[in-house]
Amino acid sequence: SEAHFFLHDLPKCEHHLHIEGSLSPALLFRLAKSNNIILPDPAKDDSFVSIEALESRYERFTSLNDFLHYYFIGMSVLITASDFESLAYEYFARAHSDGVHHAEISFDPQAHTERGIAYNTVVTGLVAAQVRAEKHFGLTSKLILCFLRNLSADNADVIYKEAVALGHFSVGTVAGIGLDGSEVGFPPEIFRGVYEQAVSAGIRRTAHAGEEGDSTYVSRALDVCKTERIDHGIRLVEDEELLKRVAADKTLVTVCPLSNVRLRCVSKVAELPIRRFLDEGVRFSLNSDDPAYFSGYILDNYCAVQKAFNLSLKEWGFIAVVAIEGSWCDADRKKVLL
Ligand code: ADE
Ligand code: ZN
Repeated sequence: SEAHFFLHDLPKCEHHLHIEGSLSPALLFRLAKSNNIILPDPAKDDSFVSIEALESRYERFTSLNDFLHYYFIGMSVLITASDFESLAYEYFARAHSDGVHHAEISFDPQAHTERGIAYNTVVTGLVAAQVRAEKHFGLTSKLILCFLRNLSADNADVIYKEAVALGHFSVGTVAGIGLDGSEVGFPPEIFRGVYEQAVSAGIRRTAHAGEEGDSTYVSRALDVCKTERIDHGIRLVEDEELLKRVAADKTLVTVCPLSNVRLRCVSKVAELPIRRFLDEGVRFSLNSDDPAYFSGYILDNYCAVQKAFNLSLKEWGFIAVVAIEGSWCDADRKKVLL
């Protein structure tokens, strides 16, 4: 359709993408085979009998935690730096074909170190893909190191200190920190310590908040963790004052429409607070979250929003500009993108 062409050509930035969530079932089975990884016994879970069976299971997630169960099994096939490079390069190629000019990709190092994969193996593979993607596609990217909120604050501190020791923040290999995984019951306060260190060191900060958790998860991420962005943030509309504060502070909210439907945070895209955000001047970007699990890459998310809200050219212009302005890329790259 006409909207599809327009949205394809609109310069896009992606800010909310878990690189482990871009692991397609095809690559999952291929790596399981080459790395001799034993997937769950079909007698216990028959989702892993074929690509088709796994894809159909992915269409029936009942919650964030139900999805996370499959997300952690999936990433267990990633062993070598080359595996991480293949994973990320496949994502960058797809993002480029969707019209993405700049991507900020999250990764979950603790999910890998907990099963014996070194932190630096993960980063080495991702960086190799970043270099190739910039060379081949002119696609720039940044890494966001996410802490898993179901693991302890001490565990987060260990991985943070490892990244600091390797100079990953100071040389810009890693652009900032984030917080992800199971939300309800794991409030931002748990991670106050590591976020305070990041504030002191001038390291950028975001956190998932207000996906399944109520609006206090958003206000507490802002107040306690001093986050500069909010990932998801859809439930922030439950607090009128908070909504106005986020708009006034120009905090970027990274919305993931198809993810929210698949994980049953909303029953359809039209239920998302996109109209509220636009009317209140809340800055937001549209993102794919875990595209291989939610069968939708970034352009699918843009098209789904257009279908549900029929936005004007001016509104799409606002979304494109605030996504660039809210990016964590260098000032000269921003100038080129704008
Ligand atoms: N990890 C990967 N995707 C996530 C999401 N949507 N929410 C929380 N943690 C995640
Ligand atoms: Zn996410």
